[in-house]
Amino acid sequence: MKRFVLIFLAILPAFCLSQNSLQKNKMDWFEDAKLGIFIHWGIYSVNGISESWSFFNEYISHDDYMKQLDGFTANNYNPNDWVKLIKESGAKYTVITSKHHDGFALWKSKHGDLNSFYNSISKKDVLTPFVRAVKKNDLKLGLYFSLPDWSFNDYTHHTTSIKRYNIKDNPERWSKFQKYMFSQLDELSKNFNPDLWWFDGDWEHKSEDWNVNKIKSKLLTKNQNVIFNSRLNGNGDYETPEIGIPVLRPESRYWELCVTMNDSWGYQKNDKNYKTPMQIIDLFVDTLSKGGNLLLGIGPESDGTIPIEQKEILKELGKWTKKHNKAIYNTRRGISYDHFYGPTTLSKDKKTLYLYVRDFPKDGKIVLKGLRNKINRAYVVGNGTILENQTICKVYWNKYPGITYIEIPNDSIDKYYTTVAVVLDGEIDLYREKIGAIEQN
Ligand code: GLC
Repeated sequence: MKRFVLIFLAILPAFCLSQNSLQKNKMDWFEDAKLGIFIHWGIYSVNGISESWSFFNEYISHDDYMKQLDGFTANNYNPNDWVKLIKESGAKYTVITSKHHDGFALWKSKHGDLNSFYNSISKKDVLTPFVRAVKKNDLKLGLYFSLPDWSFNDYTHHTTSIKRYNIKDNPERWSKFQKYMFSQLDELSKNFNPDLWWFDGDWEHKSEDWNVNKIKSKLLTKNQNVIFNSRLNGNGDYETPEIGIPVLRPESRYWELCVTMNDSWGYQKNDKNYKTPMQIIDLFVDTLSKGGNLLLGIGPESDGTIPIEQKEILKELGKWTKKHNKAIYNTRRGISYDHFYGPTTLSKDKKTLYLYVRDFPKDGKIVLKGLRNKINRAYVVGNGTILENQTICKVYWNKYPGITYIEIPNDSIDKYYTTVAVVLDGEIDLYREKIGAIEQN
């Protein structure tokens, strides 16, 4: 017995270490990826109404909502073109709605009776070819899966005014739902082996009722490195603020802002309230500087066409991400606004600081305050122009490192954000002390 205890104690640190490195490695690609594209595709694109919520909130009857199955043609669907466009935007991963709250599955599922293959006019499994194209093109794959299935007869909720039953009064019925949910998850995990699970709808039940632990352990058996978003009643690997850029940086080291290009997740022909590329890049840069990822939504039409406005945004974004890739990918959150009037990121080794310049200063000079390091080189990312710098207010009699002005020539200005790489003599070292009078003579 004593021997066992000794052996156990001897291997414990190695075990803990490997658990930690597993954890770390698992999130590495995600933390480096920075940009993902979120696809909401389903029968709601036929009428151009809100995904699932339109019948749940009783703006349309469930029967009429389901009539959209006859309009989901996927006639112009070309998953390779989708993936090409996603890559062109600079995204490193994509998340697609395998099944939204309405229960309509995009793959040929053996479970339930609502999917694109058996029930829509398209008679196509639209998910399989998409996954193939994603994997062939080295993008990471995320599957969105709604925990609630408002169309499934043994699920608790149907619409805002119709609740079928309460779990505690009818546990057998809930088990039927659970059996169905688990078989679909098994099927997805076996057929598609995603890198990330994007769950949604957890608010409707408690984690014990969903059986979150079992969900996770089953999916981890298939892929021990798979990542979970937090919409498993908070039991995930990263936070998912929605729509607005968080004013305060999320507490979790890993987080992802999901945002729509207009005001809708799915395709809604009447929603023309698109954000401009500038506004989308604003959101992206803000997210980057706070160390997060941006998951940008698109909503294809029912025939598989990606609306022109969405295509244009992705392409425009792509030009900017391509040019500024050094300042974007593999970076970590930047420094406090105390030191620079704008967003920043840092290289992983913390030896290069990237400054994002949105509005060109009147005198062409940007200001960096309290930097203890020596600047080895400063240049404009994407065009290589070397920049001059001048430090003021640095005196020998105190330790305050002064204020550095870096001048950007007019011809280096980007129409969105210009980024400046400041290559330091070591890891960034910022002066954050109170400035007094004479400290030495
Ligand atoms: C919400 C909505 C849903 C949308 C999702 C995307 O949870 O229920 O319609 O798919 O957010 O983040």
